[in-house]
Amino acid sequence: MIFTRDELLAHYPRADGPVLRANFIASADGAVAVDGVSAGLQGPGDKEIFDHLRTICDALIVAAGTVRAERYDALRLTASDRAWRLAAGLPEFPLMVIVSGSLDLDPEQLIFADAPVRPIVLTHRAAPADAPVRAVAEVIAVGDTEVDLAAGVRLLHGRGATRLLCEGGPGLFGALIAADLVDELCLTVAPLLAGGAAGRIAHGPPTPPRRMSLRHALTRQDMLFLRYARN
Ligand SMILES: NC(=O)c1ccc[n+]([C@@H]2O[C@H](COP(=O)([O-])OP(=O)(O)OC[C@H]3O[C@@H](n4cnc5c(N)ncnc54)[C@H](OP(=O)(O)O)[C@@H]3O)[C@@H](O)[C@H]2O)c1
Repeated sequence: MIFTRDELLAHYPRADGPVLRANFIASADGAVAVDGVSAGLQGPGDKEIFDHLRTICDALIVAAGTVRAERYDALRLTASDRAWRLAAGLPEFPLMVIVSGSLDLDPEQLIFADAPVRPIVLTHRAAPADAPVRAVAEVIAVGDTEVDLAAGVRLLHGRGATRLLCEGGPGLFGALIAADLVDELCLTVAPLLAGGAAGRIAHGPPTPPRRMSLRHALTRQDMLFLRYARN
């Protein structure tokens, strides 16, 4: 154990009000994946931060590309993390929210089949009406032909989920940046040169650079943990 819960809460607090926080890991040369998944980037401490950020959020948002590439499991927390949430007056589990336009999602994947709470899929009104995922998730259309992320965030706020955690991937993160919806970035830099053709943590439409301030830079065994927030 590299971080205690108190250290995690001190460095990564649950926000006082609405926030959209993104969490990513990248190699020192900026790669977001090794062989198409992020597992090859992991190192001491980042899983503890990853789990902590899940524990303190109201809803976890992840895009379909990452759900498919990483074979996302159900959002299950440890008994200790669930107890922390209940003691803090939160529901036992955060909401799991998947962003998909195609609805090309496998209903047997554990993110759906083993979910403690029925996941939400944010899609658009032109999405296939007969997609099998509709049987295992609450599918909500925001936008006519593409997912309107600002409307999706408003919808989650309307359900009382205001502390939002985005776990990516880069396509979703780029779209959130373009829509000016990102308040915070937690970025782990792994001590690796990955080379290859992997992308970086955001890609999307051109957008003006958005200034952030650095809230902390922690190091553990060559891993670097950064937290940036809007000014
Ligand atoms: N290092 C890390 O921290 C980290 C984190 C996450 C992911 N990753 C890696 O990133 C890769 C996947 O990323 P990706 O960029 O290809 O996919 P992505 O961002 O995970 O997913 C993109 C998909 O999101 C859906 N989408 C719907 N509306 C959208 C909107 N308005 N804006 C953006 N996306 C929307 C679409 O799904 P449909 O196709 O269903 O319409 C689109 O194809 C994988 O290699 C994964 O391992 C790394």
